[in-house]
Amino acid sequence: MIEVSRISKSYETAAGPLTVLRDLDFMVGAAESVAIVGPSGTGKTTFLNLLGALDRPSSGTITIDGVSIDALEAEAAARFRNRSIGFIFQLHYLLPQCTVLENVLVPRLAGGWDEPPATTRARAESLLEQVGLQDRMQHRPYQLSGGEQLRAAIARSLINQPKLLLADEPTGSLDPATGERIAELLLRTNEHARVALVVVTHNPALAQRMGKTYRLENGRLVG
Ligand SMILES: Nc1ncnc2c1ncn2[C@@H]1O[C@H](COP(=O)(O)OP(=O)(O)OP(=O)(O)O)[C@@H](O)[C@H]1O
Ligand SMILES: [Mg+2]
Repeated sequence: MIEVSRISKSYETAAGPLTVLRDLDFMVGAAESVAIVGPSGTGKTTFLNLLGALDRPSSGTITIDGVSIDALEAEAAARFRNRSIGFIFQLHYLLPQCTVLENVLVPRLAGGWDEPPATTRARAESLLEQVGLQDRMQHRPYQLSGGEQLRAAIARSLINQPKLLLADEPTGSLDPATGERIAELLLRTNEHARVALVVVTHNPALAQRMGKTYRLENGRLVG
């Protein structure tokens, strides 16, 4: 599902280039689940952004589901993301003017889906129920707690039935019981829908539930 070969990533900064990832290799199979751990500032979000085609590596290659994403043009990258990848961001980026239910449906707006809108809406409602937001569907993001915003973003990441789910701290602002519920949902999605799952987390309990754990260290992933 994911094949990453010798990628490096440097950022241009005022103090000169800052190399965050260095000759990193990584492989994930179709129905696998993987945790990525490591201290703050080591490049975990940077790496997820590359896997999600939100940014490009400085060198090296990334193939996801047979598509070389390291060289995609912006428009092709956006289409690929929309069709194949669910992204749970560390910052949630919910649209403030839309309700929770509308936010979950936003990834459908790109269009071209065969599913009748009523079915999509029912799936959106079911996802919101699974993250415990059945009584908050008509709220706007500012009317939600931090953990509720995160859960709305998780429902949104699943609406397009991605092949790959990238999650950056999906239990970051949640109490242990709610975090457990979210872990269950992610793993259920991974097992039943055979969605590959890559989770960045500082939560050891969540990491332990994934099939494998890698630590990001000195720009590389160590198993
Ligand atoms: N656009 C950018 N330009 C310059 N430096 C950046 C940029 N984005 C990130 N960095 C730097 O790259 C390093 C890795 O950042 P990244 O966000 O990937 O860390 P992280 O492992 O996700 O940390 P955390 O656990 O705190 O979320 C940090 O030191 C950060 O300051
Ligand atoms: Mg991060």
